Amino acid sequence: MTASASPTGVEPRRIKKLLDIELATFAERHPKSRSLHEHARSSLLDGVPMNWMVKWAGPFPLFLESASGAHATCADGHEYVDLCLGDTGAMAGHGPAAVRAAVERQLARGITTMLPTEDAAWVGAELARRFGLPAWQFTLSATDANRFSLRIAREITGRPLVAVHEYCYHGSVDETFAVLDGDRVVARQGNVGPAVDPAETTRVVPYNDLDALDRALADGRVAALLIEPALTNVGIVLPLPGYLEGVREITRRHGTILIHDETHTICAGPGGVTGAGGYEPDMLVIGKTIGGGIPVAAYGMTAQVADRIRAAAPWEDADVGGIGGTLAGYALSMAAARAALGEVLTEAAFETMVPLAARWERGVQDAIDRHAAPWSVTRLGARAEYHFMPAPPRDGADQIAHADAELERLLHLWVMNRGVLMTPFHNMALMSPVTTAADVDRHTSAFNEALATLFA
Ligand SMILES: Cc1ncc(COP(=O)(O)O)c(C=O)c1O
Repeated sequence: MTASASPTGVEPRRIKKLLDIELATFAERHPKSRSLHEHARSSLLDGVPMNWMVKWAGPFPLFLESASGAHATCADGHEYVDLCLGDTGAMAGHGPAAVRAAVERQLARGITTMLPTEDAAWVGAELARRFGLPAWQFTLSATDANRFSLRIAREITGRPLVAVHEYCYHGSVDETFAVLDGDRVVARQGNVGPAVDPAETTRVVPYNDLDALDRALADGRVAALLIEPALTNVGIVLPLPGYLEGVREITRRHGTILIHDETHTICAGPGGVTGAGGYEPDMLVIGKTIGGGIPVAAYGMTAQVADRIRAAAPWEDADVGGIGGTLAGYALSMAAARAALGEVLTEAAFETMVPLAARWERGVQDAIDRHAAPWSVTRLGARAEYHFMPAPPRDGADQIAHADAELERLLHLWVMNRGVLMTPFHNMALMSPVTTAADVDRHTSAFNEALATLFA
């Protein structure tokens, strides 16, 4: 290994040189995506339907031709192992047969009517079984489910503030775009047009810091603590032993509603981290995965929270109460969720997905060891991630301090040019029930080759 002063072990000069080569290869292999992107610029802001899509590592985004199972094919006909899986929206795999069949049946029976269906009660009961909470409501996105949970918490506690982990992500929820500057809460970099300064709405605590949490909740002004039980959006940050138990004890002691957002951490098992550890949050949010690609999310609550919201909020005003959505709980989404939970993201599916993620983790760790890279790997069930730091991060700020956007871009582009899609944010890979060992090995081989070049 060449000695390097850079904390990642790789000199920026070297990254730049390799990046130029990979960008040229990408451009040469994707003339159709390039021209589709140029054309899209005439009607879409920056040529993409949603701003995140400019974050892909190439000079322009790949345009999708089709996706099926664990694979995607771009407009130029190249086929990819998809470890991004729509940033978890397609964790069930692309177009699982059971979901397609259920959706097709429902398309002919009524898409949206503002009437409940039997499927909704089935899905509610299944979520109750998995997460141990008895009362459920549905939305179209995890963002909305989080927003509504925070509103409910404020309503039933009569308290004004919410608390979150530093560098959390819970969707486009205003209160959550806050970080610490020393002891001060400030808006997170990039926060677009905040309605209210998050310093006025939010307390921020580092992940894995129970003392900081205790202090943040001590004055009794915090209605809710909204957390991912393990951080997954800044990079995977796992809880230290006893952390989640401590969070429960502290929130209970201060009368703060504890909300687990399992939208990504469902990768830990059929009941997410909550189910696996037998934790007892007051409320729980899950989105993205549960419709097998059809928009649907859910929030659940304890019987006590349900009673308190019934007592606090007269439901005859519900349509103007700030909680709702015309298509929320619509028939098509409930049919899709019943099929995805009942037939695709089952206990048996996790028995395949988790060992595959362990295989991915081993492959990456072996490459790191072989090339003596000062990097590490973490895994949460069916999801794994590598970090440009020798030991896994302890909290979000630790991960941010070791991020390297150019190195990340190079590695994403490197594997993309060799047939593997990674989520465009940090270095995370997710397994679906139909991902195979060969799919995992395609990444391992490309990653190995990248490190052999970087650390030659
Ligand atoms: C933990 C978590 N919660 C909520 C969301 C928001 O999901 P959506 O964009 O589908 O509303 C995300 C999205 O990445 C997430 O990771």
